[in-house]
Amino acid sequence: MIKRIITVIALLLAAIGAHAQYDAKTQAVIDNIMTRTSVRSFDTKPVEASKIETMLRCAMAAPTDRNLQPWHFVVLNTPEALAAYFGSGEERKATPQHAPKPAADGKSQAERKKKSPPTLVILICGDTTRMQQGVKRELWVQDLSAASENMLLAAHALGLGAVWITGYPTGKADMYRKRLNLPGNLIPLNAIHIGYPAPDVKLEPKNKWDERKITYGAFK
Ligand SMILES: Cc1cc2nc3c(=O)[nH]c(=O)nc-3n(C[C@H](O)[C@H](O)[C@H](O)COP(=O)(O)O)c2cc1C
Repeated sequence: MIKRIITVIALLLAAIGAHAQYDAKTQAVIDNIMTRTSVRSFDTKPVEASKIETMLRCAMAAPTDRNLQPWHFVVLNTPEALAAYFGSGEERKATPQHAPKPAADGKSQAERKKKSPPTLVILICGDTTRMQQGVKRELWVQDLSAASENMLLAAHALGLGAVWITGYPTGKADMYRKRLNLPGNLIPLNAIHIGYPAPDVKLEPKNKWDERKITYGAFK
């Protein structure tokens, strides 16, 4: 516990730098960014409608190329909708993405399955009718990624946990489309799993600061 507190304090200090002094409002925004971490196991307490709307408003506040806002949000928070999203056990076994595979986190699939599911899933979908044509079409991914990060940060600020689950360009996008009967113009970039973190979840933000990944000025 003490180790965790020290880690969080170290992260916050690293975030603000040794000299930086900000007012409380600014510091709160920076702290929210620096303490966000993916949460994959959730409590059964449902997410309030007001919080869902706040997260959607924050997502829609994101910048988009030519302000096209080429998105559509599919909110799943009823038992029926969540069951459709997760699919039946048989369907899951038949889906390649769910076949056993070594996990990057070193945990077996059985261990990962022990996690408690989210009470809310929001699919962030690209709307092909609002996308540009030609080489700029693919900018929709950047537009929706900005919205996705806004949603993750809003969830964290609201005391919720969340994680970005891959959709496009993997086969999962089609899987979501089929399971939820999405209209043909919607391409799920991702599914954001959201909920109150399970009591045993350790909220430990990763320290990703790496000066070697920064270059000031032109390369020589
Ligand atoms: C494009 C993208 C796809 C991701 N897909 C998944 C996913 O399918 N499953 C998952 O558990 N996490 C997924 N994540 C979350 C990352 O694993 C996580 O952000 C990363 O490990 C860094 O951890 P942090 O979010 O706690 O900082 C994804 C994140 C991004 C940005």
